[in-house]
Amino acid sequence: MEHIKRHVFVCINQRPPGHPMGCCQTKGSIEVLQALGEAVQTSDLAADTAVGGATCLGPCTLGPSLVVYPEGVWYQGVKVEDVPEIVEEHLTKGNPVERLRLRLPQNEE
Ligand code: FES
Repeated sequence: MEHIKRHVFVCINQRPPGHPMGCCQTKGSIEVLQALGEAVQTSDLAADTAVGGATCLGPCTLGPSLVVYPEGVWYQGVKVEDVPEIVEEHLTKGNPVERLRLRLPQNEE
C-alpha cells in the first residue's frame, strides 16, 4: 500500500427510514461508490488511488458525502453523474471540484 497516493472515502452509512438525520445510502451513495470505484479501476489512477466505503463521515444532511485524502477535501451531495468530473478534475489533475465542495451552515463552521 506504499504506492497509494490518494484515498477516497464515500459514506455508505444507512439509518432506518424516517430517522431525522437521514443517511447517505438512501440518497444513492452506494451507486456513487460503485461508479467511482469502476472509474478509478478502469483508468490510469488504478495503481495509486484507493476508493472505499465508510460509515458516517459527519455531514449527514448534506450527503452523499465523500472525502479525499491526503488533501482533506470534502464533497457534499455527490451524484453518480458527478463522478466523471471528480475523477478527471480532482483525482487526475489535482483540482478539487469547487461546486461540490462541502459548505457547512455558518453556525457549524
Ligand atoms: S450518513 Fe453519510 S455523513 Fe452521516
